Amino acid sequence: MQAVTQRQCSATAARSTARLQNSVSRGATSHLAGTVRDGAQDPSCRGAASQGRLRRRCAPLPAAAEHAQPRPGDADAAALSQGSGSGSGSRSGSGSGSRRDVLLGLSAGLAAGWAAGLLGPSELRVWAAEGITTVFVAGSTGNTGRRVVQQLRQAGFTVRAGVRSASKALALGFGADPGVEVVEADVTKGVDALVAAIGDAQAVVCATGAAGFGPNGAAQVDEQGTINLVDAALRSPGGGGVRKFVLVSSLLTNAAAVGQGTNPNYVFLNLFGGVLDRKLKAEKYLRASGLNYTIIRPGGLSNEPESAVGNLIVSGEDTLFALETDPSRVISRDTVAAVAVQAVLQPEASRDKVLEVVASPAAPKLSPERWFAGAP
Ligand SMILES: NC(=O)c1ccc[n+]([C@@H]2O[C@H](COP(=O)([O-])OP(=O)(O)OC[C@H]3O[C@@H](n4cnc5c(N)ncnc54)[C@H](OP(=O)(O)O)[C@@H]3O)[C@@H](O)[C@H]2O)c1
Repeated sequence: MQAVTQRQCSATAARSTARLQNSVSRGATSHLAGTVRDGAQDPSCRGAASQGRLRRRCAPLPAAAEHAQPRPGDADAAALSQGSGSGSGSRSGSGSGSRRDVLLGLSAGLAAGWAAGLLGPSELRVWAAEGITTVFVAGSTGNTGRRVVQQLRQAGFTVRAGVRSASKALALGFGADPGVEVVEADVTKGVDALVAAIGDAQAVVCATGAAGFGPNGAAQVDEQGTINLVDAALRSPGGGGVRKFVLVSSLLTNAAAVGQGTNPNYVFLNLFGGVLDRKLKAEKYLRASGLNYTIIRPGGLSNEPESAVGNLIVSGEDTLFALETDPSRVISRDTVAAVAVQAVLQPEASRDKVLEVVASPAAPKLSPERWFAGAP
């Protein structure tokens, strides 16, 4: 692993930006940027000269203006767009909660944007992670993906940031961090390119999500795209091979199989290309792959920090259905990212687990070493 030196950190972000743009303009295929080594002007890079990956702290990536676009799979978007209605929300699928209440409940706390900035998880622990030094993140420019990238960097990992748009990566400041290598990774474009994008990473975090219908819909992204990524992870020889795969999925993916087929959230979200059913197929593929996996199924995602949304609640597979009786239906994206990073940091504790995660101010704050203890 490269050490980040003081000299690198004092170089200009402009140079790395130019390098990123040049690389793209040259028509690079798998690598949009090549390794950006010039460093950032961010003063938090000052400590980067300290020796050793696990002690390194580099700058949080600069925040960019937020644009939350409703799209399939977005519980918050769905809730906000639905607004009202009637329906049931009990665990049997025919209970008392009104559809409006359930859907509006999902949207609670989701109004604020990115302007609040990223939360540095105070509980993030830096542990040796079974030889994992480099992590590939698919969907790095997404609202959750960018937080995963930032928190992986805080934990000392080198990141291969899979993106569709170099300009979006630039706007997020990826080019200013020498520990983030921006690589092109459209999960719909086949396995070979994804193998190249994963490169020498030993872990993969998938934070992609479909936007709209058609060629970038749920079938293409949430199902086949994730399957492509699993296949690429299986084939990737770099860095000794991929030994951890973390998938950000969703609550309710398996709802139909456990008596929640008429749950209004399940029914409504599936109107968007069957996104929950598509995600379930990808989950099953990952589970059968033989990879060490962790599937994170969050409730409605909020850009608000954990301090506003609440402490993490970890529940087992098929236990949370966004019902009024559930402890919560929302969670901060910061918290979801923290769980993903901890799954990489604790590959054995998190091995082959499905976590359903929400958050509540009323919940006790759990230390990360307990996050994977309860889930089967
Ligand atoms: N929103 C919710 O309330 C909610 C609740 C539960 C679960 N989830 C799920 O949680 C995950 C993260 O959600 P989010 O709201 O943070 O996502 P998001 O902000 O919409 O980001 C999605 C990411 O996926 C990328 N992407 C889309 N199509 C792609 C493709 N073909 N190849 C590669 N990347 C692609 C996007 O790229 P660009 O940046 O280039 O657009 C973006 O970076 C998603 O799977 C979502 O379905 C969401």
